[in-house]
Amino acid sequence: MLRVPADSITVPPAMRASGQVRVPGDKSISHRYAMLAALADGESRISGYSPGADCTATLGCLRGLGVTIRPTGPAGWAIAGRGLGGLRAAESPLDAVNSGTTIRLLSGILAGHAFRTVIGGDDSLQRRPMRRIIEPLTRMGARIDSAGGRAPLTIDGGGLQGITHEPEMPSAQVKSGVLLAGLHASGRTRVVEPAPTRDHTERALEAFGVTVVRDGAAVEVAGGQRLESRTLAVPGDISGAAFWAALAGGTPGAAIDIEGVGLNPSRIAVLAVFARAGAGVTWSVDDDGAGEPVGTVRLSFGECRSFEVAPGEVPGVIDEIPALAALAAMMPEGRTFTVRGAGELRVKESDRISALAEGFRAMGAAVEEFDDGFTLEARPLTGGSVDAAGDHRLAMAFAIAATRAQAPTVIAGASSVDVSYPGFFDELARLTR
Ligand code: S3P
Repeated sequence: MLRVPADSITVPPAMRASGQVRVPGDKSISHRYAMLAALADGESRISGYSPGADCTATLGCLRGLGVTIRPTGPAGWAIAGRGLGGLRAAESPLDAVNSGTTIRLLSGILAGHAFRTVIGGDDSLQRRPMRRIIEPLTRMGARIDSAGGRAPLTIDGGGLQGITHEPEMPSAQVKSGVLLAGLHASGRTRVVEPAPTRDHTERALEAFGVTVVRDGAAVEVAGGQRLESRTLAVPGDISGAAFWAALAGGTPGAAIDIEGVGLNPSRIAVLAVFARAGAGVTWSVDDDGAGEPVGTVRLSFGECRSFEVAPGEVPGVIDEIPALAALAAMMPEGRTFTVRGAGELRVKESDRISALAEGFRAMGAAVEEFDDGFTLEARPLTGGSVDAAGDHRLAMAFAIAATRAQAPTVIAGASSVDVSYPGFFDELARLTR
């Protein structure tokens, strides 16, 4: 008898996929708007805020730091800013739960506050590397104790000086944590990136009235700048949209329109990869007014070609690799998808290289694993049992590919989709009905 764990879902094969869809608010932008609103003078209003558990964890941490936050409607929040440096010491440890962005960005802010904070998270978060943020924040003057470079972190903040930081690996979280600390530091803080990463922090800071100097690979802020409260709408999450793109790209005859989705140039590289893989991809920006472009993406079934993501492209598609793997797994037998230079995938919510390889193999694909990537070769998908390893993006990737399998697929750890996309399975059922 097949043992079906409580937290599992069965995805049946589907013959079709089409329709229109709106995705939840962008996770990266939601975190940033909430944190900056908490530091601003006056009340900000944020609509389209991600309903996912990660962004809820950020709100919980901010509340723990004395910020008053009240709902204004579905996915809408009013956040009463406490002013730059105005957070209050938390009475108990903060819980970032599963969210790397929460802990790494908030650490930068906490480093700027002259009190002690303990911040931790779930088992997955406690396995993830934090030295990348501890090192520059310590150099700025914060005192941070950790469990051997992992969470929980005990941060004694205050008295920061600006630094120039050149991270070893491209990371928007590290860049952002350091810039947010820089706002609370004396002098100027500069981050020089080895490769460009998403620029939501720079845009959000500007939206809240902060001057950000961008100069090629360098980003700089002067400390002490006050933030003005704002009313802002979070666009839909293109990383969530990528799963619908994969569904359309891998289902014969399919076309899906994704509306209200963020089209920030630092996030849309995945669309070019879908096009290279043979899918029909069109997109248009409908609104570029509030600092983050928003528009519509139409994805349709196409030629299904083998494709690669080169090492230099990885930072621009790091969160969409599971969706790209799903597309490849749905293709006709023998098509391949190769990615290299993606070692960072091993320190995401799960070891995404080994968990992804194991899951797609269990579904019938052939996967060769490398230290820094994998090659997935399409084979007829059989269905079966897979484990999402508690990782939201793997649960969604397996579910999309499962629609092309010959038999139902049972996905363990399916509720992890709530981290970024509550309601994902209902939408999948609707689009494939
Ligand atoms: C994020 C940056 C990326 C990404 C993560 C969200 C952000 O992580 O994978 O899902 O919001 O800044 P890294 O900065 O570790 O590359």
